[in-house]
Amino acid sequence: MDLLLNLVVVLHLLGLAAIVGSAVFVARGVPTPALVWGARAQVVTGLLLVGLNQAADEPVDNTKIAVKLVVALVVAACAEIAAGRDRRGQGNPNLVHVAGALAVVNTMVAVLWT
Ligand code: HEM
Repeated sequence: MDLLLNLVVVLHLLGLAAIVGSAVFVARGVPTPALVWGARAQVVTGLLLVGLNQAADEPVDNTKIAVKLVVALVVAACAEIAAGRDRRGQGNPNLVHVAGALAVVNTMVAVLWT
């Protein structure tokens, strides 16, 4: 169980790297597949982490998780809308910037909210 939880943490951190790496450091303003799949992965791996922690009787801060879930859903929505618009030739870099910035906000919530 510990190994599984740690592996999901690794996926969670890779999802974070995909979003922030793409949106902030590499393809500024362009909704790459890494951004879109990273944003989806954060919601899925985050929910898995909650379940695995609860299954292992580890305490989970519900308020913190609720905040992270809302922020992650906004990140995913921004990424999906930006990608959809980009496919129709109506690129909108602002949505990509918001997704990247909110992923950084969620990282700060994850680490600083104790
Ligand atoms: C953009 C979205 C997200 C980002 C950038 C993010 C970032 C992070 C980071 C950096 C950590 C490691 C913190 C540490 O170990 O000190 C973490 C852990 C965690 N995250 Fe997220 N997260 C996101 C979304 C979510 C969502 C949506 C959920 C749940 C619904 C969630 C649940 C968790 C849990 C339970 C842990 C603790 C894992 C453990 O050590 O057992 N995260 N997150």
